[in-house]
Amino acid sequence: MLVFLDGKYIDQSEARVSVDDRGFLFADGIYEVIRIYDGRLFLAGPHFDRLRRGLDATRIESHAPDYLLEVSNRLIVENGLQDDDAIVYIQVTRGAAPRRHAFPPPGTVPTVYVAVRPFPRFPAESYESGEAAISVPDTRWGRCDIKSIGLLPNVMANQQAKESGAFEALFVRDGVLIEGSHSNLLAVIAGELVTYPVCNYILGGITRDFVLGLARGLGIPVREGPIFADRLDDVEELMLSGTTTELLPLTRLDGRPVGDGRVGPVARRLQLAYLESVQSGTTAGAG
Ligand code: PDD
Repeated sequence: MLVFLDGKYIDQSEARVSVDDRGFLFADGIYEVIRIYDGRLFLAGPHFDRLRRGLDATRIESHAPDYLLEVSNRLIVENGLQDDDAIVYIQVTRGAAPRRHAFPPPGTVPTVYVAVRPFPRFPAESYESGEAAISVPDTRWGRCDIKSIGLLPNVMANQQAKESGAFEALFVRDGVLIEGSHSNLLAVIAGELVTYPVCNYILGGITRDFVLGLARGLGIPVREGPIFADRLDDVEELMLSGTTTELLPLTRLDGRPVGDGRVGPVARRLQLAYLESVQSGTTAGAG
């Protein structure tokens, strides 16, 4: 596969990053993942806006978002993915410099890496029967709104889920289920679609936003608020949203059925609407 690293298109097997790279030493960097459906970037605009906000928040001086749409589209073509489902992975770090905590000297060039890889849609069974999740305490930092490459708590949580036979781990903060290790969480409670408000404790998911828009369009009431971990009896449906996860129903949590243990009507309507927008391609391109 051809990848983009520091201004050059090279074969992935030849891509090398310095051991002094601050991404390697400090997880001093941010990333984005963008979906490609049938060779076209999905919701690219909001993803690049979030990348820009992440660079501003971390004070990494890079112009990456200005040219990466073009880079991503070129990688799709060069790697023969014009008709395929795939993802783009983008990472920008503060660059390579001798290790010290404060920012490196002015002029240190940020490392910019972009790769695409085939990424098939979820198997229909997952949508039909739903997936399982576990809940875990949220041990992350207080700026989860930044899409930082420092993902150790997410990795540990997701591994725990896998070892429990579950798909996702849901972080619990102050008794509230706030989001997954790599996805946002939505619930249906008393007929309303409920999801944690965007703030510093969760990542403002592009898919979350998109799904909330779909729900409003379908006349489903939407509320940003808490999903209490000890009030699961009130929860009619649970679902995840994310670039790789799309819109995925959860039918079990910590070994217990969610609602009646089957994929519910709101998840089905939203999934259908999601697939329709993917197929119509209306939100593709620059988004
Ligand atoms: N993860 N919350 C967290 C912690 C995430 O890592 C992600 C995405 C989301 C969903 O955001 P979006 O809809 O913008 O993809 C929520 C990506 C896909 C990843 O780490 O691979």
